[in-house]
Amino acid sequence: MTFFIAVGTLCLICVVLSALLVVADRFLNDYGTCTISINGGEKELEVRGGASLLSTLVSKRIFIPSACGGGGSCGMCKLKVLRGGGPVLATEEPLLSDEEKASNVRLSCQIKIRENIDIQIPEEYFRVREFQGEIEAITPLTHDIRLVRIKLSEPESIDFTPGAYVQLCAPSYKDSPDPVYRAYSIASDPTDTDHLDLLIRRVPKGICTTWVFEHLKEGNEVLFNGSHGDFRLSGTDAPMIFIAGGSGMAPFRSMLLDMRNRGVTRPCRYFFGAVKPRDMFYLEEMKELEVALPDFRFIPALGAPEPGDGWDGETGLVTDVVTRHFPDCSGMEAYLCGSPGMINACIKTLTGNGMPEENIFYDKFA
Ligand SMILES: Cc1cc2nc3c(=O)[nH]c(=O)nc-3n(C[C@H](O)[C@H](O)[C@H](O)COP(=O)(O)OP(=O)(O)OC[C@H]3O[C@@H](n4cnc5c(N)ncnc54)[C@H](O)[C@@H]3O)c2cc1C
Ligand code: FES
Repeated sequence: MTFFIAVGTLCLICVVLSALLVVADRFLNDYGTCTISINGGEKELEVRGGASLLSTLVSKRIFIPSACGGGGSCGMCKLKVLRGGGPVLATEEPLLSDEEKASNVRLSCQIKIRENIDIQIPEEYFRVREFQGEIEAITPLTHDIRLVRIKLSEPESIDFTPGAYVQLCAPSYKDSPDPVYRAYSIASDPTDTDHLDLLIRRVPKGICTTWVFEHLKEGNEVLFNGSHGDFRLSGTDAPMIFIAGGSGMAPFRSMLLDMRNRGVTRPCRYFFGAVKPRDMFYLEEMKELEVALPDFRFIPALGAPEPGDGWDGETGLVTDVVTRHFPDCSGMEAYLCGSPGMINACIKTLTGNGMPEENIFYDKFA
């Protein structure tokens, strides 16, 4: 008992001390005006010190990729900090390789601007724009996935490569005091340039998805920035395997609509894994694409169908279904989209079936 009281007291003291440090840092430390010098002085920003490098850049309309909203868990906000970033923090360590640390790569969400800072960012980040739009329709596709259709207003159109994603801004609402940005793959036809379709799956207690499912209504104004990412079809003719589950459908819908528009004849087999029939969607649309595309087949697979489900399609783990169809994947390419666990399992299966790792492209939804 004495032991637990001692440990509890120690924890309480640590929490109080950390809180005091945060408060003291906020109110006592005035970092004044600092300069962010970008790409060898190509661009210079005068900013107020004290906030994170990521949020300061966003406030200046320079949109760095980020999926966790600055939480230090996604690793997408990496950029090079050549001067003024201070030592690598413990919160950065797990997401930086030794090679990255040696070449000054840092997590921009973890660095606080305390002095003048020199950074390097890829030129394409300057092309990322902020968009405003109005929610035209919110359509339930399954019990936990919604199609959110946005009509663009400012600017009025978007140009993107299928496979790209945007960062949607969830404004502050009850239980979430600050706006947050989250990544969502574009699910729309790239020729439908004045609209954007997103497929959003509800994450229990998730900040952005709770806002989408409980607060966002048709007619509401929304902000997002994009497009981001390099997940896209290669320029080869290699036969393709697509694998997805849940809202991982999004980039493949956009890619398939684009393939249909361009009359692409490249062989493509799309394996879509779900647990129960209620998790399946777009079956009709995929059938239509099978007709429109000369060498495309959609192969839905249910993990655990019940006898009463009337399911006569593929069953079992999606990785096992892929292996049944393609025990030898050499000479093919694979495109994967979904949770990190699903993607890692697919990579293991595909390389085990002879696919070179460099032929596997993916977007991890985390
Ligand atoms: C490149 C990219 C593209 C993406 N595209 C899509 C898309 O098209 N559709 C889509 O629905 N999502 C997509 N995501 C995931 C999305 O960005 C958010 O992570 C997700 O919607 C949860 O946000 P949230 O604010 O509701 O949850 P948060 O408040 O960020 O998280 C709440 C809790 O849930 C956990 N969590 C976060 N994300 C997930 C998840 N996906 N599954 C299970 N647990 C989670 C967190 O670790 C945390 O514990 C994509 C992610 C990336 C990186
Ligand atoms: S924004 Fe996710 S780690 Fe920095």
